[in-house]
Amino acid sequence: MTQRVGILQQKGGVGKTTNTINIAGALADRGLDVLAVDMDPQGYLTHRLGFEDAYTANEPTLYNALKEPTEHDVEDLTVQHVEFDLLPANIDMFRLEQDLIASGMRPRMRLDQLFDGADAWDVILVDAPPSLGPLNDNVALATQQLVVPVEADDSSQLALNHLLRQLDTLESRYDVHVDILGVVVSNVEYPLDNEQKNNIEWFQDRFEDHVPVWEVRNRAAIKRAIKNGESVFGENAEETDMREVYAAIAEEINDG
Ligand SMILES: Nc1ncnc2c1ncn2[C@@H]1O[C@H](COP(=O)(O)OP(=O)(O)O)[C@@H](O)[C@H]1O
Ligand SMILES: [Mg+2]
Repeated sequence: MTQRVGILQQKGGVGKTTNTINIAGALADRGLDVLAVDMDPQGYLTHRLGFEDAYTANEPTLYNALKEPTEHDVEDLTVQHVEFDLLPANIDMFRLEQDLIASGMRPRMRLDQLFDGADAWDVILVDAPPSLGPLNDNVALATQQLVVPVEADDSSQLALNHLLRQLDTLESRYDVHVDILGVVVSNVEYPLDNEQKNNIEWFQDRFEDHVPVWEVRNRAAIKRAIKNGESVFGENAEETDMREVYAAIAEEINDG
């Protein structure tokens, strides 16, 4: 069974793409076959992994596949990164939301339909776009298992409440259950001020009885690895204590 996990949070700059690369790297480091999927029309994941050409490539791309999921195989659309496979975003995806809504037919189930029969991987990890809307809904409905990155600032509580409300709506409208596997407080920079401390505690109080709350600290090694197009588990990456955190996230995903 291929497991599907969405890295989802509608705020920009909270670490979705960074966490996607490193969780994918950690899962691959466990010996698993991983597909990372770039659902952000801006294509940061695709670019950071070095596949700029795929972002501007001609059809068929993820854009075409999401418009007509039954006409495309995921395997034909993927490229090979050293650590894992990638289903790249394409620049045409900027028009996708409008196209999906205009088409009327289950616009929020397209990614789920595309993943039907995509069984070549142990885990499919989807990097979600920074907005609430049809593309993000596609990620939630196709994976129904989320890792939610947040930052230790005040606006993250509000963002999380918006997200939970949106998931409630999807759950009742589509009769599904969307599971939150864990929360990653991302890019945490010490020393913490009081606001940051309070926010991290708020996330811990809210979630830690049910699911793990991980803390990924701000590390130059993380930034440099991504600059080189790899995770902190990549061949050229420097040693960092954050490997342990990403290994723990991968273990939770893998063993549940
Ligand atoms: N743990 C970290 N250490 C250092 N830099 C980080 C870390 N997490 C995120 N960043 C940086 O923060 C910025 C936003 O992160 P990104 O993963 O692109 O967020 P999102 O995908 O949610 O928009 C990027 O420049 C990224 O390099
Ligand atoms: Mg991103």
